[in-house]
Amino acid sequence: MKNSIKSYSKARSRFSIKNKKILSSADENIFFREDNFRDFKNLFDNPSKLNLEIGFGDGKYLVRQALSNPKEVFIGIEVFESGLANTYKRILELELFNIRLIQGDIKEILLKNKSQNLFDLISIFFPDPWPKSKHKKRRLLKSNFLINLESLLKKQGQIIIKTDWQDYAEEITDTLDNLNFKYTQSSRRSDTKEFITKYEEIALKAKREIIKFEIHSIN
Ligand SMILES: C[S@@+](CC[C@H](N)C(=O)[O-])C[C@H]1O[C@@H](n2cnc3c(N)ncnc32)[C@H](O)[C@@H]1O
Repeated sequence: MKNSIKSYSKARSRFSIKNKKILSSADENIFFREDNFRDFKNLFDNPSKLNLEIGFGDGKYLVRQALSNPKEVFIGIEVFESGLANTYKRILELELFNIRLIQGDIKEILLKNKSQNLFDLISIFFPDPWPKSKHKKRRLLKSNFLINLESLLKKQGQIIIKTDWQDYAEEITDTLDNLNFKYTQSSRRSDTKEFITKYEEIALKAKREIIKFEIHSIN
């Protein structure tokens, strides 16, 4: 049965014939849809390292990581077409063979996937904060979701979460503590030399504190 509470806003899904065309003719070895998705293990052969980015937005960070680490495989999941279509175009322009894109809701994809112990790194950067009290139930990072995600990690694998929303960070801390997960938490406000995502850039410009969680596999 489909999850009814969505962690993303449908209002951001603008219809574009151009993007639809790009994605409907996309290479079936690179681009997958939630409906056709069966299992993560069908998407790659033995990479040296397997990475997953959930909610990759404009995809620039995903592409940059794949370019810098050609022996690793990067799977990106996003709901919205514009980010998916632009990222797909960049993959073709740069002839990147180590990215797979999945269009869909991560919660639905996790319901279908049966494999475990797959990923070295899972990243979730700036998940939608849903700041209003009545919307907090839409936040993605709830207990069951984190339990499912942790089961995807290899031994020594890690989940990295970043948020600039203090109240969400507190909720994540409580959830991780209740789950008895092994994690470290750090924060910063200043600029960095690292390549960062669009939402991290926005947060830094606004001088907001960025809270980072590094969750370690409990295998
Ligand atoms: C605030 S944006 C952050 C984008 C990017 N990670 C960044 O840091 O620039 C959150 C992204 O998560 C995506 N998202 C939210 N819920 C999702 C879900 N259930 N499955 C896949 N993507 C989701 C949204 O579509 C949106 O692009």
